Amino acid sequence: MSRPKSAGKSSSKSSNASSSADQPAASSKTERGNADLNAKERNADLNAKERKAEVRGNGPRPVRETQHETAQLMMPQHANVLGHVFGGVVLSMMDTTAAVSAIRHARLACVTVSVDRVDFREPIHVGDLVIMKSSVNFVGRTSMEIGVRVETENLLTGFRRHTNSCYLTFVAVDRNGRPVPVPRLKPETPEELRRYEAAKQRRERRLQERTEEGRGRKFESGIE
Ligand SMILES: CC(C)(COP(=O)(O)OP(=O)(O)OC[C@H]1O[C@@H](n2cnc3c(N)ncnc32)[C@H](O)[C@@H]1OP(=O)(O)O)[C@@H](O)C(=O)NCCC(=O)NCCS
Repeated sequence: MSRPKSAGKSSSKSSNASSSADQPAASSKTERGNADLNAKERNADLNAKERKAEVRGNGPRPVRETQHETAQLMMPQHANVLGHVFGGVVLSMMDTTAAVSAIRHARLACVTVSVDRVDFREPIHVGDLVIMKSSVNFVGRTSMEIGVRVETENLLTGFRRHTNSCYLTFVAVDRNGRPVPVPRLKPETPEELRRYEAAKQRRERRLQERTEEGRGRKFESGIE
């Protein structure tokens, strides 16, 4: 699970500092404890309200604001004895890259709920630079589909390959891990609109599969 670190933490720290300066000094350990607790509750409330206002105020968010790019040089610890990078390393990078796009869109903590099929068609080698590009393709009520494109660059020749692409679904969650609504998405370019429509259809397929799997599980356990 990936959680945004900056906004919530820094604002709660600064509010803590100001509220303790505004409060009269607590005379006993119990009073100090109660004062700290009240300040914490007030901060939690304020952060939740601030976040809601942000989501309401900004309206639909453009795809470009969710775009993220990252790169990592593949080292011996990422590979098997043949020097081929483990698939799990690539999957982990994909998950983290997609999480950045999801959190940028929602400005809330987000969890990975599903990863579509990933095929590794060509090996990535030690010494290659792996470049990942991600953006939000589609938004439901609480979920978002993120597309990640993986390219590798041979740093000695400069030759770049598109090694794979993957779609991941993230859900924005509250402090209790329950799904919460996210802002709508605003695709602007023809490419973004094409991805939006394709993602909408993939979402329908996923939900259909989820329903069928649910029915299958109920049948196996004898509920149906
Ligand atoms: C994500 C989680 C909070 C969703 O809870 P839930 O009870 O399934 O919630 P819902 O049924 O209301 O679904 C919430 C959203 O997720 C979507 N969703 C749920 N399962 C899905 C799946 N398998 N594939 C795609 N989307 C899915 C739903 O369509 C819904 O989207 P919408 O609000 O945009 O319409 C819950 O499944 C969870 O906590 N999972 C573990 C997440 C985690 O720890 N990930 C890290 C991997 S270790």
